[in-house]
Amino acid sequence: MNSELQPFDRELFESLVLSRDLELGRSLISYETTTSTNDVVLRALSDGAPHGLVVVADQQTAGRGRRGRTWVSAQPGENLLFTVLLRPERHAAENVSSITLAIGLAVRDAIEPHVDDEIRIKWTNDLLVDNRKLAGILVESQLRNAELSLAVGIGLNVHLREPPPELRLAATSLRLLGARELRREFLLADILKHVALRLHNWEVRGFSSMLEDFHACDALRGHRVSVDGLAGRAIGIDDSGALLLQIDHEPAPHVIINGTVDILD
Ligand code: BTN
Repeated sequence: MNSELQPFDRELFESLVLSRDLELGRSLISYETTTSTNDVVLRALSDGAPHGLVVVADQQTAGRGRRGRTWVSAQPGENLLFTVLLRPERHAAENVSSITLAIGLAVRDAIEPHVDDEIRIKWTNDLLVDNRKLAGILVESQLRNAELSLAVGIGLNVHLREPPPELRLAATSLRLLGARELRREFLLADILKHVALRLHNWEVRGFSSMLEDFHACDALRGHRVSVDGLAGRAIGIDDSGALLLQIDHEPAPHVIINGTVDILD
């Protein structure tokens, strides 16, 4: 193993949770290797696992992204791979998808101080720098007896130096961006702090309270894009977090709730 790639130090992380009085991360499960941290949290849901449970792994054998895509683990310890279980107290059912955008803002809030470059969010779940992926988010939800549970999985490229050939033009990492803070325990604690803050805002004030923050770092706004084959110009998002796609010669934008976006120019 590359000597700078250390196993996740749970004692260090637990001391950060206590000294910073973090709300999330008080329950922790850590693995050297697991299939997917999202799977572990989804299984723990039915056993009544608490709000704020964090599952972190040095490596995943079946990490996944949105729409069944594979999330490739590089070397053990190279990236921050974790899932946090959120059980929001209040929520509007039609607005659940906007939590992914709020989480994206939280991850951005946490890592922005470490890099000079502009970090943008590509609707709905990618954090990009210069169009290269720095982090991805996979939110899986369960609604039972009107109680919402969210498995919020985050993969953040930390130490990656040499992206695999197929990702060479598509991926970046905190190291490649010159960040000084590369210890995953500190990064995780920073992210959890900001996730708790954004979650609180989402519950109390709704996603629309974050619209301006999102617009300021929207990777798509003004670009020609294709959403599952439908081409147009991305003109922003609405109050619910839906993408607004303006098709040439059509009077009103399409309101896109779900889809995979490719940037065309
Ligand atoms: C995406 O880009 O489509 C989302 C990627 C999310 C990857 C993270 S890594 C930790 C957690 N466990 C998973 O299996 N996926 C998420």
